Amino acid sequence: MTKIRIAIQKSGRLNEESLQILKDCGISIDNGKDQLKASSRNFPIEVFYLRNGDIPQYLRDGVVDIAIIGENVLIEKGEDISIAEKLGFSKCKVSLAVPKSVKYNSVQDFEGKRIATSYPNTVINYLKEKGVNADLHIINGSVEIAPNIGLADAICDIVSSGSTLFKNNLKEVEVMLTSEAVLAVSPKINSERKELLKKLQFRIQSVLRARG
Ligand code: PRP
Ligand code: MG
Repeated sequence: MTKIRIAIQKSGRLNEESLQILKDCGISIDNGKDQLKASSRNFPIEVFYLRNGDIPQYLRDGVVDIAIIGENVLIEKGEDISIAEKLGFSKCKVSLAVPKSVKYNSVQDFEGKRIATSYPNTVINYLKEKGVNADLHIINGSVEIAPNIGLADAICDIVSSGSTLFKNNLKEVEVMLTSEAVLAVSPKINSERKELLKKLQFRIQSVLRARG
């Protein structure tokens, strides 16, 4: 029997809510996170637990058919991948922040500055549009520590509650984009699996309606 293959985040903020929405759709997943792949007894679906940043490439290659992923990750690495459904959870911003002590006037202040980020494409596109040239330092995590250790003058990262910025004495000065979890679709999905996607989407839509 054909199954639709869905990627969800292996660990992190999206993982739990992604499993929850599948559960609310009446889909019970057999195995926990210990295995990288799991199936369902009551819906033809296979779940792959993957790293967030790898998911756009898996979609592009057609190794998975669909994914629950942050819109921000698609904007950074998967502009070519289409979104079937916005899911209304894991809302966040991708923002530029500077040390609290810095007097900030406008985005022009970033000219010639060193910015630490895991979202280089997002930052480059944003600053390019404003005619600003900055020097990017690409790091994969704990970005907010960069100004405190002298690695950068500013950072660009996800802001959710704002507590990471606060704890690191930073202030948000530019919101580049807002994001939420979305259901993304591989350009290579076949027609049989498209039918399964339709069924899943139908269930997701009623769950989202019920959540209000
Ligand atoms: C994420 C993100 C921010 C923080 C934002 O980091 O990179 O640092 O959460 O959330 P907040 O505004 O609610 O504080 P995470 O804790 O996932 O760790 P990482 O950056 O090391 O991957
Ligand atoms: Mg972080």
